[in-house]
Amino acid sequence: MTVQLRVYVPPHPLIKHWLAVARDVATPSVLFRSAMVELGRWLTYEAAREWLPTLETTVQSPLDTTAATFIDPQVPVAVVPILRAGLGLLEGAQTLLPLASIYHLGLVRNEETLQPSCYLNKLPEKFDPQTRVLITDPMLATGGSMMAALSELTQRGVDPAFIRIVCVVAAPPALQKLSVAYPSLNIYTATIDETVNEQGFIVPGLGDAGDRTFGT
Ligand code: PRP
Repeated sequence: MTVQLRVYVPPHPLIKHWLAVARDVATPSVLFRSAMVELGRWLTYEAAREWLPTLETTVQSPLDTTAATFIDPQVPVAVVPILRAGLGLLEGAQTLLPLASIYHLGLVRNEETLQPSCYLNKLPEKFDPQTRVLITDPMLATGGSMMAALSELTQRGVDPAFIRIVCVVAAPPALQKLSVAYPSLNIYTATIDETVNEQGFIVPGLGDAGDRTFGT
C-alpha cells in the first residue's frame, strides 16, 4: 500500500470567515490575533478526528450502564508551536487540548536565503513513541521551516503518522517537499494558495503572520 501525504481543507464557514479576516490587509493586529485563535481552534477540532486516542469503557448513568468513550489519558499528547507565528494558533488549540504538553520551537527564516535557523528548542530529548504531536505554524511556504521542525521531532522518536500539522495557508513548494520526505503526514489548513514569490511570501497569502500577530 502506498502511503500518501493527506492535506485537508475543511469546508467550514467559520474557517473560511476567519481566513478572510486574516487575509484582509486592513485587519489590525488585535483582530488578526483573534483570527489566529479561531483558526487554531477550528482546525485543531478537525485535526483531532482519528488522532486523539480514545478508550472504550462503560459508565453508569442515573438510569443504566452504557457504553462510553473517553480520551485515553495514558497516551501523551503534545503541541509544538513554531515561534513566533505558531503561537497565534496555540491558544485556540489549547482550549481543545487542555492536558497537552507544550514544547516551543523557535525557527526564523533568513530573509535572503530563506533557510531556517533554530534559536529556541524546548523539545524533550526523547518522546514516547505513542505521542500524538500537533504542530502549529500558520504558513507553509518553501517548507524549509516545517522540514526542520519535523527533523527535530522524528530524531526524538516521534512517529510521523502521529503528527498533525495545523496551518492556515499552505503553498505547493512546501507540500511537495513534505510529501516526498514524510508521506504519512496529515496537514490541516484553511487554504492551499497558488505560489511563493521570490521574497518567500505566499501569494495571495496573508503577509507576514508573525509581524501581523505581534504588531511588529
Ligand atoms: C514564517 C512562518 C513559517 C515560515 C514559513 O516564519 O511563520 O514559520 O516563515 O516559511 P518556509 O515554509 O519558507 O520555511 P518567520 O521565519 O517569518 O518567523 P516568525 O514566525 O518569527 O515571523
